[in-house]
Amino acid sequence: MRILFLGDVVGESGCKKITDNLSEQIEKKKIDFVIVNAENAAASGVGLTKDICENFYNSGVDVITTGNHVWDQKEIMNFIDKENRLLRPKNLIEPAPGKGFEIYSTKKKVKIGVLNLMGNIFMKKCENVFQASKHFVENYCIKKDFDFLVVDFHGEITSEKNAIGHFFDGKATLVVGTHTHIPTNDARILKNGTAYQTDAGMCGNYDSVIGMDKENSLNRFFSKVSVKHFPAEGDVTLSGVIVDCNFETGLANKVESYIFGGQLSKN
Ligand SMILES: [Fe+2]
Repeated sequence: MRILFLGDVVGESGCKKITDNLSEQIEKKKIDFVIVNAENAAASGVGLTKDICENFYNSGVDVITTGNHVWDQKEIMNFIDKENRLLRPKNLIEPAPGKGFEIYSTKKKVKIGVLNLMGNIFMKKCENVFQASKHFVENYCIKKDFDFLVVDFHGEITSEKNAIGHFFDGKATLVVGTHTHIPTNDARILKNGTAYQTDAGMCGNYDSVIGMDKENSLNRFFSKVSVKHFPAEGDVTLSGVIVDCNFETGLANKVESYIFGGQLSKN
């Protein structure tokens, strides 16, 4: 059982790279289940739309996760309650539309839990993510409630992500960070068997400032006249992790970074 997790998709080019290549990549890499964080997938680079979600599902994506930009395209607030395969961070302050955890069944009847969480440091206000995680593991258990568990931790700082990785060690198949748009070179299996990477990176054009047009971004840093951030369209790298899962333990046999195309590709 192989799960592909792809980091934050940015803008129209990011979406196109997914819809043009994902089915082929699924076949080539023998992937059984695909999770994508798509909170930056809208043309403006913030939020996502119903059409984007549907195009992704039609391209082989099984579950979409999000983060701080989840509500930036207002239409998603209505859509999320109707679409089981779309998650928002579980620890948003309630009441909030949608949900942050669901158990999915694959074609081969494998049960995969997907938990979407958001960090507290330098992020929008949300419930304490460590308390939310503790509450989660008190209520759900790998091999009892699902065969495998993937945690998308949407957060800004590496220490918080590291800590959440260790908290879920032995309790999740994969813990992977999102939000910073820069892939970290630390994919590994933690001591108790959980696959971990601090950040999956983005599915976007890396000739940019975290996916946004670099000239405009530099102008903003220099406080020159500038417009709102907008995505750097162009040559896209798909970036994420692939985890090989162990049916006996529910944990990871192997984890590797996944990089396809664009500036980060070595091929
Ligand atoms: Fe984010």
